[in-house]
Amino acid sequence: MEEKQIETTYLVYPDANALPAQYSKLLDRAKASLKDSWSPYSEYKVAAAVELANGQIFTGANQENAAYPLCLCAERVALAAAASKCPNIPPIAMAITTEKGDSPAAPCGACRQVISEQEFRFDQPITLILGAQRGNVMVLDSVQPLLPFSFHGALLKG
Ligand code: THU
Repeated sequence: MEEKQIETTYLVYPDANALPAQYSKLLDRAKASLKDSWSPYSEYKVAAAVELANGQIFTGANQENAAYPLCLCAERVALAAAASKCPNIPPIAMAITTEKGDSPAAPCGACRQVISEQEFRFDQPITLILGAQRGNVMVLDSVQPLLPFSFHGALLKG
């Protein structure tokens, strides 16, 4: 028997102004997309901006439904928009933000899995920039530290 540990390394910036310009620009695009949220049920707006390797940026905001399980998270809306328009260009970074408070956005488990699929698809880590209206911004090199032992296509082949 062997005990192993999983470590997560991430950067914490005191606020958005302290971010490298590329990341603050992406976070600004996400913040500008909060207006696109349709969230009358939770009243919790989330938005994401995905940057592709060719420099294009696609945004998305959460889209809720009166039939609650049909709600779509901002991250998946943004990634699907990017993949639908530019299916062969890898995403390299994604900023996620919420309207409320100063706790950085945390992608839900399902969104972590969907972000992970894009990383495996293109063999390209996606930098995650997690922010809120104000306060700390967290930056991770990849979604994998947020999803240890992630399920991916190669496992289906045994
Ligand atoms: N939401 C997102 O858009 N992204 C997440 O990663 C967490 C949750 C949305 C879904 C729902 O519209 C609202 O936030 C409250 O759960």
